[in-house]
Amino acid sequence: MKLFANRTAKLFIFILLFTASYSFNTYSQQVIPIETKTNALVLQVEKNNDLSVVYYGKKLSDQQDYLAIAGQYKNSDYTGLLNSAYTPSGSRNLVEPAITVTHADGNTSLDLRFVSSETQKIDQNVSVVSILLKDPVYPFEVELFYKAYFNEDVIEQWSVIRHQEKGKVVLHKFASANLSLKANSYWLRHYHGDWAKEMQAEEYQLKHGIKTLDTKLGTRANLFQPSVFMISLDQKATEDEGTVMFGALEWSGNFKIDLELDSQDNLRIIAGMNNYASDYHLKANEEFETPPFLHTLSNQGKGLASRNLHDWARNYKLLDGKGTRLTLLNNWEATYFDFNEQKLAGLLKDTKELGVDLFLLDDGWFANKYPRNGDTAGLGDWQENAKKLPNGIGYLVKEAKKNDVKFGIWIEPEMVNPKSELYEKHPDWVIKQAKRDEYYFRNQLVLDLSNPEVQDFVFDVVDGLFTKNPDLAYIKWDCNAVIYNACSAHLKNQSHLYIDYVRGLYDVLKRIRTKYPTVPMMLCSGGGGRVDYGALQYFTEFWPSDNTEPIERIFMQWEYSFFYPLISMSCHVTDWGKQPIKFRTDVAMMGKLGFDIVVDHLNENDLKYCQEAIHNYNELKQTIWQGDQYRLSSPLTSSVATMMCVDKSKKQAVVFNYLVNNRYGAGSKLPVKFKGLNPTKKYMVKEINLYPGTNSTLGTGQVYSGDFLMNIGFNPDVRAGRNSVILLVSELN
Ligand code: DGJ
Repeated sequence: MKLFANRTAKLFIFILLFTASYSFNTYSQQVIPIETKTNALVLQVEKNNDLSVVYYGKKLSDQQDYLAIAGQYKNSDYTGLLNSAYTPSGSRNLVEPAITVTHADGNTSLDLRFVSSETQKIDQNVSVVSILLKDPVYPFEVELFYKAYFNEDVIEQWSVIRHQEKGKVVLHKFASANLSLKANSYWLRHYHGDWAKEMQAEEYQLKHGIKTLDTKLGTRANLFQPSVFMISLDQKATEDEGTVMFGALEWSGNFKIDLELDSQDNLRIIAGMNNYASDYHLKANEEFETPPFLHTLSNQGKGLASRNLHDWARNYKLLDGKGTRLTLLNNWEATYFDFNEQKLAGLLKDTKELGVDLFLLDDGWFANKYPRNGDTAGLGDWQENAKKLPNGIGYLVKEAKKNDVKFGIWIEPEMVNPKSELYEKHPDWVIKQAKRDEYYFRNQLVLDLSNPEVQDFVFDVVDGLFTKNPDLAYIKWDCNAVIYNACSAHLKNQSHLYIDYVRGLYDVLKRIRTKYPTVPMMLCSGGGGRVDYGALQYFTEFWPSDNTEPIERIFMQWEYSFFYPLISMSCHVTDWGKQPIKFRTDVAMMGKLGFDIVVDHLNENDLKYCQEAIHNYNELKQTIWQGDQYRLSSPLTSSVATMMCVDKSKKQAVVFNYLVNNRYGAGSKLPVKFKGLNPTKKYMVKEINLYPGTNSTLGTGQVYSGDFLMNIGFNPDVRAGRNSVILLVSELN
C-alpha cells in the first residue's frame, strides 16, 4: 500500500507534523537534537527521509551547528544506512539490523522513512521525543522514543512496532535502540560470571566486526553475563578523565547487545531483547513495545557517569530510591533448612540484641506433604510447615513485634520442585518439553508465567502472605533456576515464551506494587543473576552475590557500584572466608547492611563491635545511600581499595579503606586524595568502627581544610593489623 498519494500531499503532512517538534532544518535536512545538561544525541532526517544518528557527544552552544556535523565525516556508505537510527533489513541494508520482519504476504523487506517527530515535556527535567518511521510500501511503522533526563545526562530509548497489514507480521528482530558512535578507538568494559563469581570485569579495545553481549537463559538471565557495559571513546577512560558511555537494557530476560565496528569506523550499538528462539507474531493494530535501553555519556570519566546513573536511579527508577531501608538479620547461613519455632524465637531476640531493624526468615518454612527440608522438595507449596512452625507465620510476626523488630520472609514464587503438590496438581503450569526428560537446575523447574493462571498464582502467594500477616515488612524474592526445555502448555506460539514470561512477571510485579507500593523487596537470584533496571522498578534492593567473602565482595561491589547506587546493594556479614568480623562488617557497610551469622557465636567483643558498627551505620546511612560516590583507589590497581561517599550538602562524608593485598609491607604508603568536599571548609577526620580495646593510630580526630584533603590527601594508615579503616569526615561549623 502506498502511504502517500503524491509528493505534495507528503510534504504537506510532513510540515504539519514536524512543526510540533523541536528541530531545525535547511532545504534538504532536518536535525532533531536530544539534549541533556551536557550532551546532545543528534538525529538527522536525510534528503530521502532516512533517519540517521549523526552525533552523540558534548552539546554545542548553537543548535544550528548540528546541521553541519554530518558534512565533516567523509565516508563511503554505499547504503545510506550505516548510521541509521533504526536499521531495517531486507532492503538496502548490509550490516546488523535493528529490525527484521516477514510481512503478512511473506515478503521479507523493510524500509523505514521519517514521517514526523514530537516532543513532550513531562516536567522541568524530563522530556520525551517520539519519532514516527513508516515503510513507504507496507502499512508498517515503528515509533522511536527518546526519554531525556536533563540533569542526570541519562537517555532511555525504546521502540514501538505496529502495522495494519492483512494478517500477522512475524518480527524476527526488534531492537530497543540503535545508536552510532564516532571515535578513533572504542574500549569496551563488560562483565562475565557464574554463581558466586558475579561481575568479573574485562576491558579491551574493540576491533572491526561484531562483539555481542547476550544471554539465552530466560530467567536469572544474567548468570553468565549482565547487560551493563561501558564504552570509552578514543582512549580508556579513567575514574575522572575521558569520554565514556554506560549502557544497560532494562529487561529481566534474554537480551542481546551488538557492538559493531563497521567498515567506516562507526561503532554501531544495537540493543534489545534477544531474538534468539523468539520470533514474535504481531496482529494488525497490536503494539509491540520494547524495553528501554538506558545510556549516559560522561566526558569526565567513569566516576561522573556512575554518579549520574545513581542520581537517575534514585530519582526515577529504583523503587523508593529516595526512601529508607531496613538493616536486618537473615537466618540462611545461620540455620539453612534446619530450624523450628523455638530456634527462630531465639533469632528474633538476637535481632534485637544486635540492633538491626528486621529479622528475615529464609528458605525452608513451607510445604507439608513434601516438606522443604532441603532444596529437593516442597518448592511451590507455600503453606507453613506445621512441624517447624505449628503456630504459623502470624506467631513469628507477633514475636518479632514483642522484640521490637520487624519481620520479613523469603519466597521463590516463580519456581517449583517436581516433588511438590503444586507440580502434582498443575503439571501444565511448568515450563518443560512433554516428550523429553526433565532437566533441573537446583532440582527445580520454572513456572510458566506467560500463563495468566500462573500469574494469578504468583500474585496470590505474595498477596496471601500480606493479607494474613499485615505486619509483614519485607520480602526476599529469589529465583534460582534457568529455563531449560523452553515450552509452554499455554502458548500457541512457543517462540513467544521468553518474552511473554518476562512480561508476565512484570504484570505480577505491577499488581503487587499497586497493592503494596513501598514494602521493601529484595531481588535475589541465587546471587546476582537477575539485577537490571527493568526489575529494580519493583524492588528496593538486590542481592549481588552469594559470595560474601569480603575480599571478593570488595571487587564485586566495586564493579556493581558503577551502575547501581549503594542503597540498592544488599551486603550481608556472613562467615564466608577467614577475615575478622570487623573487616567483614566494614565491607558490608559499603552498601545496604545486613547480617547472616549466628549472633550467639560472637564473643563479647565481636558483639560489642557489631553493635557499635550498626550504630555508626545508622548515623551515616543517609550519606551512604543518598550521597555522591567517589572511587578513590581501585582494588584492581592498588593494595588498598578506597571508596568515599559525600552527602549532597558536603557536610559529611565516609571513606571506606580496605587492604586487598596481603604481601609483606603492603598498605597505604601515599595519602589518598579525597573528592567532592568543599575546598573552603574545615573538616574533622576521625576513624570509626574501632574494635573494642583498640585505639586509632590516627589520633582522636584531626582538622584539615577541604582543599588540603582533596589536593594533598589523607593517609588512613591501612596495613596488616589495620586492614580495614573507616573514616568519618565531618564539616566543622
Ligand atoms: C539462594 C540465595 O541467594 C540465598 O541467599 C538463599 O536465599 C537461598 N537461595 C535459599 O534457598
